[in-house]
Amino acid sequence: MKPVTEIAPGIHYVGANDRTKHRFEGLWPLPNGVSYNAYLIDDHKVALVDTIDASFTERLVAGIREVIGDRPVDYLIINHMEPDHSASLAAVCRLWPGITIVGNAKTLQMVEGFYGVGGSADNHGAVSTAVKTLTVNDGDTLSLGARTLQFHLIPMVHWPETMVTHIAAEGIVFSGDAFGTFGALNGGIVDNQLDTTVFFEGEMVRYYSNIVGKYGVPVQKALQKLAPLLPLSMVCPTHGPVWTAEFPRVLDLYDRMSRYEPLERGVVIAYGSMYGNTEQSAEALARELAARGITNIAMHNLSSSHASFVLRDIFRYGALVIGSPTYNMHLYPEVQALVDDIELRCISSRVFGCFGGFTWAGAAVKRLSEFAGRVGWEMVAPPLEVRQGFSAGKASGGLSAIAEAIAARLG
Ligand code: FEO
Repeated sequence: MKPVTEIAPGIHYVGANDRTKHRFEGLWPLPNGVSYNAYLIDDHKVALVDTIDASFTERLVAGIREVIGDRPVDYLIINHMEPDHSASLAAVCRLWPGITIVGNAKTLQMVEGFYGVGGSADNHGAVSTAVKTLTVNDGDTLSLGARTLQFHLIPMVHWPETMVTHIAAEGIVFSGDAFGTFGALNGGIVDNQLDTTVFFEGEMVRYYSNIVGKYGVPVQKALQKLAPLLPLSMVCPTHGPVWTAEFPRVLDLYDRMSRYEPLERGVVIAYGSMYGNTEQSAEALARELAARGITNIAMHNLSSSHASFVLRDIFRYGALVIGSPTYNMHLYPEVQALVDDIELRCISSRVFGCFGGFTWAGAAVKRLSEFAGRVGWEMVAPPLEVRQGFSAGKASGGLSAIAEAIAARLG
């Protein structure tokens, strides 16, 4: 029986699953783990495409040895330098000292900066640390014998040095972070070995919105660059499933997310609440929306929902309503953090409404209105400000106006 790790003839998955790390980049929760994907191309020359997190170097090496035994790895292709993919680089170079590191000029500068490996790189030149490097430019090729690799630079997806590696004859692309997902690979590696529709699709949207979401314009440029390579038989990202038949759906998702287009009809209600008054406005608004036929309503109390899930839903749905108490004459801190996250990601448009609490002074609604102005989002209805305690009498007129306007906009 062919091992699951041989994802195509001569192309082997040599990545690892991490089910112990709590937060990716120290920030983003991993309730279902994450996979660090690396790939080995077993040709006349052997090429390793990316490495993996330093905690799993031994598993990477074991996976490589299982495929090639005592043969050496000839090339290390570096598509992306973030340490979740490059941190085993120095160990790989020590184990196979004849290896050539292949990357673009920015990559090789980072190789030296992060790991002290390289030096002043020149094409095929030995360098100060005795590790050979090969600098590639956009469109350059490298023959492994039977296969030829071609490199395409896709800067800012997700770092400036990022590139993809293409095997034209087989329609295979090694895509770096592009098309990756959170979530460990529990057995299957390729999309036809997994149920990807609910879990991995949600984790792709969360990965994209959290990690790559700021770079919509570079992602669009990357998609334009990849268009002439289509159709592809296999796309191999650095996290999550390898895409084959499902790639067109994934590509469409990426196109829409990078245009900041909503993926589904729905509303996010994200709010802070100290004593439950603002939360009661949020609950009442959700009921008003449901009464108007909106079935996808994501409620996030920002004191308990991690921002990564809120951002995922903001990328997913077309409308966002934010509620906040006034706190220190400003927004509630968790709400401030969310609006900062949104601004940082340059989300170009959402149907927007807001409500807030006035305890002894009112600032929240004013700050949320200013936020809408800064990001260029139109407020669909006047903001609702509830004085002191919540009551249906105080809130229902304002909330139903917000709900009515949102329902009309979403259609
Ligand atoms: Fe998975 Fe940008 O690193």
